[in-house]
Amino acid sequence: MSGSPMDLEADVAEVLLSEEAIAARVGELGRQISADYADRDLTLVSVLKGSLPFMADLMRQISVPLRIDLMEVSSYGGLSTESSGLVRILKDLSASIDGRDVLLIEDIIDTGLTLNYLIRYLRGKNPRSLRICALLDKPARRLVDMPIDYTGFSIPDQFVVGYGLDYGELYRNLRYVGVLRPSVYETR
Ligand code: IMP
Repeated sequence: MSGSPMDLEADVAEVLLSEEAIAARVGELGRQISADYADRDLTLVSVLKGSLPFMADLMRQISVPLRIDLMEVSSYGGLSTESSGLVRILKDLSASIDGRDVLLIEDIIDTGLTLNYLIRYLRGKNPRSLRICALLDKPARRLVDMPIDYTGFSIPDQFVVGYGLDYGELYRNLRYVGVLRPSVYETR
């Protein structure tokens, strides 16, 4: 880096989803969820850190009363672009979800291993209902099949960053979702 700030944008090969496209889709999801959860007892459970911008935008597009809670999980594996499937809970729910209608908010479903773990874990906490909302879905890489109730966008098998998604904890602050240049992860 030789003292100069890193140019995040230069590492992006292509903008896959623009800020405007994301906002429009998040608005649609919010309207659909508001209709589906009228007269329910909705709790959004977001999985840090990647889902943070999506959760923040989506909750403001939902018009029915809701609670939020946050979990943080990490897959072992450091900088790798491959999910290991070994999930560790770094931050647990702060309130009971017993009897509540839980909507799990995820940034991206890739192999599905993280989601599979989380669903089992949350089911054990006895929610009245449990559904999944993911901003991005990479169906080509799925190892564990699971129905996703609300999907923002289905995307091709490329490693993406931005709008919460990282590589090595960076790029989360990009306002769009872009394809990371393979040279970035091939050389580090
Ligand atoms: P899965 O367990 O393989 O479904 O992986 C889910 C997690 O891997 C996501 O919550 C992300 O943190 C990370 N991940 C998977 N694909 C990407 C990607 O293209 N960019 C950034 N992170 C990703």
